[in-house]
Amino acid sequence: MKKIITILGTRPEITKLSPLLPLLDKEFEHIIIHTGQHYSFNMDKIFFHELGIREPDYRLDIGSGTHAEQTGKMMIEIEKILLKENPNAVLVFADPNTPLAGALAASKLNIYLVHLEAGCRSFNKKMPEEINRILIDHCSDLLLAPDKKAYNNLLKEGLPKERIKIVGSTAIEASLRNRELARNSNILKELNLQSGKYILCTIHRAENTDDLNILRNILCSLNEIAKSIQIVFPMHPRTKKAILNDNSPINKKIKIIEPQGYLNFLKLLDNSLFVMSDSGGIQEEAAALNVPCLILRNETEWTYLTDAKKNMLIGTEPRKIIETVKYLLSDRKQIDAMKKVNLKLDKEVSRHILCELKNELKQ
Ligand code: UD1
Repeated sequence: MKKIITILGTRPEITKLSPLLPLLDKEFEHIIIHTGQHYSFNMDKIFFHELGIREPDYRLDIGSGTHAEQTGKMMIEIEKILLKENPNAVLVFADPNTPLAGALAASKLNIYLVHLEAGCRSFNKKMPEEINRILIDHCSDLLLAPDKKAYNNLLKEGLPKERIKIVGSTAIEASLRNRELARNSNILKELNLQSGKYILCTIHRAENTDDLNILRNILCSLNEIAKSIQIVFPMHPRTKKAILNDNSPINKKIKIIEPQGYLNFLKLLDNSLFVMSDSGGIQEEAAALNVPCLILRNETEWTYLTDAKKNMLIGTEPRKIIETVKYLLSDRKQIDAMKKVNLKLDKEVSRHILCELKNELKQ
């Protein structure tokens, strides 16, 4: 049996890889390394409990730090394990510092490297995630892209087409598979919310939280919108820290809650009128659940959703945010039109990934 090591460490890696991990356990000698980039119960352990994911074989407990510190510490520890375990392949996912550290450590040891969610580009090099994606793609041996656009991005960067395979999106698969489970969540009752009567909001991207002007612009827009409709805001620790440091005023009508588990979050998303977010994963999860998503960024890696008019890019300028939301609230036909956009959603992405891996590793 061939040996594969999966490296993960953040909330989205855990949720989006959840359908694939049991399949890898069955078909390969499979080892999971958790870097501990995310470590709070609500950002980590809860997902293992809720989604029935087994314990990782190695927990590195790296935690927070500057980008270099965090990535460097991860590389040092990952390298030790790779040398000891000598796997046939290493699998990393998407764009956080965790997959970057895993990719650099593996490729320098000449271990066959697989990048899942390869080829996505925002074309904004100020985002650490964009730099991570490019670096990981360029040292990978097998590039598993979600769609044709990502495939073409890789070709344009000179990566050989024999190394690129389109497998679909694991975020879409995970949300479709877990929607039923999420229906059992009591979060609406707990928060006293009515379906379709609130907007869900999340912000955590460094480019939005670390630039005080942008953060204040977003908050002042939300304060204004909250005069017309309830906003529910599960707050990422990075955002909470930035808001507390700045002493930013927040309208009392905005319901600020702790980061939620996956099932509560899916339930909140599924029942919202629409979602406003800068998260990559939520853009796809919203599309899977047929909830319009207003993206609080100036560009997105998931252009197939904005091109199809399923999601909308609205940036971070208060005037644009407030006008768009007021327009949507005054004419619900626009929301219905976004909901009516029909996308072909694939629920078998993990199986496609498994086929590619077995094929490439000749198992
Ligand atoms: C990281 C990823 C981002 C992904 C996001 C999902 C990078 C560069 N960014 O951003 O692509 O969308 O995860 O959440 O890797 N913190 C806690 N508890 C935790 C985790 C973090 O309190 O469990 C706090 C720490 O103070 C930390 C801050 O949040 O400094 C930010 O965490 P970090 O891992 O640096 O990046 P994220 O913003 O979570």
